Amino acid sequence: MNAPTPVERIVGPVIFLGAPGAGKGTQAKRIAERYGIPQISTGDILREHVSRGTALGRQAKEIMDRGELVSDKIVCDMVESRLSQADCDRGFILDGFPRTVEQAKWLDGVLAAKTFGGKHLPPIVIDFEVGYNQLLKRLTGRRTCPDCGKIFNVYSQPPRVPDTCDSCGAKLITRKDDTDEAIAVRLKSYEQQTKPLADYYRQQGRLRVVSGEQEADAVTKEVISAIEERSA
Ligand code: AP5
Repeated sequence: MNAPTPVERIVGPVIFLGAPGAGKGTQAKRIAERYGIPQISTGDILREHVSRGTALGRQAKEIMDRGELVSDKIVCDMVESRLSQADCDRGFILDGFPRTVEQAKWLDGVLAAKTFGGKHLPPIVIDFEVGYNQLLKRLTGRRTCPDCGKIFNVYSQPPRVPDTCDSCGAKLITRKDDTDEAIAVRLKSYEQQTKPLADYYRQQGRLRVVSGEQEADAVTKEVISAIEERSA
């Protein structure tokens, strides 16, 4: 079946917050496809550097494998160069960025200087809430396609053929940072460094909390309604 034609509206900046495993990547792919705008996942960009063995990738690899955050400078430089590309003109989804208050402040400055269809648009910030036990189950059950990036879960979203991507047939892999040790560090750094961002955006009146524990389709519906409320 062919992918549906994207809805060609001005979406503006959309930020997905949420713990590791909350479903940011799963939802970002769906929303990016619906509106024909890019999913900008700092985790995916970093993993690509690691797999290509670039200088940045060599610097980031051990930090990521341990589950810690890469420096604000590295990540902000990466995002700056990605946002300057023409496919960001109608909007974009930031998946996994910002992750610290410093990154959020930096992004405020960048967005203040950017227009979408001739207008300044503040970000729509969606925080996916998922309980701790569910996060653990999702992270340990996650399998990813190394070729097309599709995300599966052995418990909740299994591939039709075990260990094989439904879309492109590649053998699925488990992410290097989905080990028990790295998951513990990632959840801790989320609590300490990223969770405060919810208050940061709440104070700006931008935060929209969505239960990420619902079926993926129900989550997508809420995200679409948050986006379309603004552009109606
Ligand atoms: P990153 O790749 O961003 O990882 P993360 O934030 O830990 O998030 P995940 O990708 O693990 O989870 P997700 O919320 O996308 O969930 P998913 O949709 O896959 O970052 C990796 C590393 O890069 C960081 O640790 C850090 O080192 C570095 N990094 C990245 N950005 C950085 C930044 N800004 N600053 C500094 N360092 C940075 O879903 C998880 C599972 O659940 C899947 O199996 C999926 O199938 C399943 N699932 C999804 N939705 C549902 C649902 N509704 N119901 C049931 N199952 C579901």
